[in-house]
Amino acid sequence: YRLVNSKFTVVTYSREKAEYANVNWDELGFALTKIDYMYVMNFTQGDEKFSHGTLTRFGNIELCPSSGILNYGQGLFEGLKAYRKADERILLFRPEENALRMKMGADRMCMTSPTVEQFVDSVRKTVLANKRWVPPHGRGSLYIRPLLIGTGPNLGVKPAFEYTFLVYASPVGSYNKGELNLLVEDKFHRATPGGTGGIKAVTNYSPVYKPLTQAKAKGFSDVLFLDALSGSHIEEGSACNIFILKGNVISTPTADGTILPGITRKSIMELASGFGYQVEERALPIDEVFDAEEVFCTGTAMVVKPVASITYQGKTIEYKQGEETVAGRLYATLTGIQTGVIEDKLGWTM
Ligand code: COI
Repeated sequence: YRLVNSKFTVVTYSREKAEYANVNWDELGFALTKIDYMYVMNFTQGDEKFSHGTLTRFGNIELCPSSGILNYGQGLFEGLKAYRKADERILLFRPEENALRMKMGADRMCMTSPTVEQFVDSVRKTVLANKRWVPPHGRGSLYIRPLLIGTGPNLGVKPAFEYTFLVYASPVGSYNKGELNLLVEDKFHRATPGGTGGIKAVTNYSPVYKPLTQAKAKGFSDVLFLDALSGSHIEEGSACNIFILKGNVISTPTADGTILPGITRKSIMELASGFGYQVEERALPIDEVFDAEEVFCTGTAMVVKPVASITYQGKTIEYKQGEETVAGRLYATLTGIQTGVIEDKLGWTM
């Protein structure tokens, strides 16, 4: 209703119907679908900041064989999602948090990073250029992958002098379709104090393949890593944070350098406090996992997923599943906000 000449009048807005790419949305898993455009922006030593960002057709990029990323793994990535609302408009979830995390990682890896404004603007442009790939409401999301890589050539061990910031995306469905059955990994570690476990370095992920492949061969869906110092505290999964629930207390390992400071992790901690839970960040001994009422994992890709079972040194414990769990309630609230079904009172969506 609009007030027109002192009278309330019904005003009807019509918008064009959204156009969609030819995708079987209900079959989406977490795999790459090649979209139309990617966004690329460069930095060369001597420049004041990243500049000349452009949208180009999605495709291969050219790299010097001696580039920092290929030789020494000087690179970071981010992950965030765009969701379709019921009215077909598109929402981004907390993109400035990813921009800040990339800046933090860039500092650790001696890289220059785009500003928060440049990061968010590049993400917006990438999503708008590829909007036909944003799945219909409730049938998936557009996973956005910003990369920051050392492209300048270097034979010696030192920071590159040229960087590329690139944003691509892919429509995705669930990261993990079945139950989450975790195997506690007591030989390989994901992170060490003083290392890069607390940033999204590209090199944090492939070392996980070995224990993950071994766990999958035994029928588990993921591994749960222990800390490298004492080997007695849980840290995180191969690509997700972990929470345990006991009574009114929800606990997660402290993000003090070996834990990825997940944006879903942070959002869940904020939502859970709002629900009246006591939320604690602390060292979590493996023994407490066996005493927990619920365990759940969080991540941009994973969202919030209850853990069905954890196996450690031959002993398996099973946990509650389903929508009635605390994890189920947190999932419903978070995805409700992300997809515009629940009013975003926290200003998380754009
Ligand atoms: C994400 O949740 O965005 C991640 O980074 C996990 C990814 C490695 C699949």
